Amino acid sequence: MRGDAIPARNNADWSSLSPQPPAILVRPTSTEDVAHVLRICSEAGMPVVPQGGLTGVSGGARPVAGCVALSMERFVGVENIDEAASTMTVRAGTPLEVVQKAAAERGLYFPLDLGARGSCAIGGNVSTNAGGNRVIRYGMTRDLVLGMEVVLPDGTVLTNLNKMLKNNTGYDLRQIFVGAEGTLGVVTRLVLRLFPQPVSTLAAVCGVADYGRVLALLAGARKRLGPSLSAFEVMWADYWEVAARRVPNVRDPLEGDHPFHVLVELQGSDEDIDGQRFQSWIEAEFEAGTVTDAALSQSLADVAAFWGSRDAASEFIQVLGPHLSFDISLSVGDMDAYAAACRDRLAARIDGCQAMFYGHIADGNMHIIAWVPGAPKQPDTEVYDVIYGLVREYGGSVSAEHGIGLTKKNYLSYSRSEPELALMRTIKRALDPGNIMNPGKVFDMPATGESRS
Ligand code: FAD
Ligand code: LAC
Ligand code: ZN
Repeated sequence: MRGDAIPARNNADWSSLSPQPPAILVRPTSTEDVAHVLRICSEAGMPVVPQGGLTGVSGGARPVAGCVALSMERFVGVENIDEAASTMTVRAGTPLEVVQKAAAERGLYFPLDLGARGSCAIGGNVSTNAGGNRVIRYGMTRDLVLGMEVVLPDGTVLTNLNKMLKNNTGYDLRQIFVGAEGTLGVVTRLVLRLFPQPVSTLAAVCGVADYGRVLALLAGARKRLGPSLSAFEVMWADYWEVAARRVPNVRDPLEGDHPFHVLVELQGSDEDIDGQRFQSWIEAEFEAGTVTDAALSQSLADVAAFWGSRDAASEFIQVLGPHLSFDISLSVGDMDAYAAACRDRLAARIDGCQAMFYGHIADGNMHIIAWVPGAPKQPDTEVYDVIYGLVREYGGSVSAEHGIGLTKKNYLSYSRSEPELALMRTIKRALDPGNIMNPGKVFDMPATGESRS
C-alpha cells in the first residue's frame, strides 16, 4: 500500500508526536513474508518500522520519513496451548486481550495486563518489555517469554520456540529482542509462559493519610498476603480528583478526600480462606492506623469497578486535553519526595504547569502527567528537562516500562553509562549493519564514516 491508500492510523502511535506517513505499508501474514520484506529492504537500504497495536507512548512505532511500515495486524492467531508445559505459542500481531482470553478458556492465565489490552499486540508488548499492573507478582513481559521466532534485518529467520523454563545453552538470544523496540529485528512468533487461573480475586481501595503509611501498607501487604499479592497501585490526590470525579463512569468507593488512594489486589487459590485473610489484614491495618478508610470488593464486578479508577488514565485526553505522560522508575521510598520536588519545580519554571502522580509504586514505577491547561502547544522540552533532570538527581530511570522510542532518546544517557551505550551500539551494528531497523529510535547510530565509539 502506498500514498492515500495507507490508513491514517499507521501514521502515528499514542505518543504526542505529530503523524508521519510511511512511504509504503506492508501487512505480512507469514514469517516468510516478513523475511522477504526485510531482505528487499536490506538490499535497498530502506528503513523498516515495525508496528504492533500502535498503543506505544514513546513514538517507537511512528514511521520515519521514507520508510516501510511493517504492520503485524494481520499476523495473528494462537497456534498452540500446551497444558502440560503451561505455554502458549502465538503470532506476534495477536492482541493481548485475545491472548488473555485464549488462556482463560483453557483454565489458564496469562498475567500481563495493561489499560491498552484490547488494542496492543503481544509482539509490541514483548518489543517494549511492557510492565503493567501485575509485575509485583509475575514480573515484566521478559519474564513471561520462553521462546521466540524473530527475523533479522537481512531476512535470516531465528526460530527457537523453546517451551522449557530451564535452558542454559549459551547466550540467551531471545532477551536481546525483548525491549529492543523493533531496532534489531521483527518478532514473528512467541512461546509465552502461562499460570493457573486464580480461583479468587479480591481488591480493596484504601484511603491513606501520608506516604509513610503507604509504605507501611505495602510492607503489611507483602507480609500478610505473601505471594498472593498481585497488584499495589498508588494514586496521589491530584490524580484521584480527575480519575474518580471527572472521568465518566468511574465511581469513588470512598467518602471524602484522602492524600493517597491505594488499590490492592489479591489473587488466590481458595475463595473462603483468601476472603478471610484479606479482610482480617485490612482490619489490622485499620487498627494500626495505616488506613483511614477502605472499601473491600464483594464481587468481581467490584474488582473491575475499582480498577476503573486506575484504567481511567486512558480517558484523560478527553478530560484534560493534550498532555505529556511519563513512566519513571525511582527507589520506592523516594517517590513522594520526588513528586513534591517535581510539582514545585514544574510550577516554578513553566508558567501554569500542573502535574499529577500515580502508578505501579510497589515496582518503583511512577507515572506522571504534566500539562499546561489550554496551551496551544505543550512545552515538552521544558517539562522533559525538569522531570528527567530530577530523575537523574534521584538516581532513577527515565523509562520504567514504556521504552525510549523517540521521545526519551535525548535523555537515555541520564540512566545509562557511556560504556553501556557503546555496547548497545555494538550489538545494533552486529545485527543491523545497514541500520534499516527502526533507525533513529532509542539512540542514533553514527553515520557511516564517523568514528565508531
Ligand atoms: P506498538 O506501539 O505498535 O510498538 C511499540 C514498539 O515495538 C515500537 O518500537 C515498534 O516498532 C515495536 N514493535 C511492535 N511490534 C513489533 C514486532 N512484532 N517486532 C519488533 N518490534 C515490534 N505500557 C506498559 O508497559 N504498562 C502499562 O501499564 C501501560 N498502560 C497503557 C495504557 C494505555 C491506555 C495505553 C494507550 C498504553 C499503555 N502502555 C503501557 C503502553 C503500550 O500499550 C505498551 O507499550 C504496549 O506494550 C505496546 O504494544 P503495541 O502492540 O501497541 O506496540
Ligand atoms: C498506566 C500506563 C500509562 O499504567 O502505563 O496507566
Ligand atoms: Zn503503567
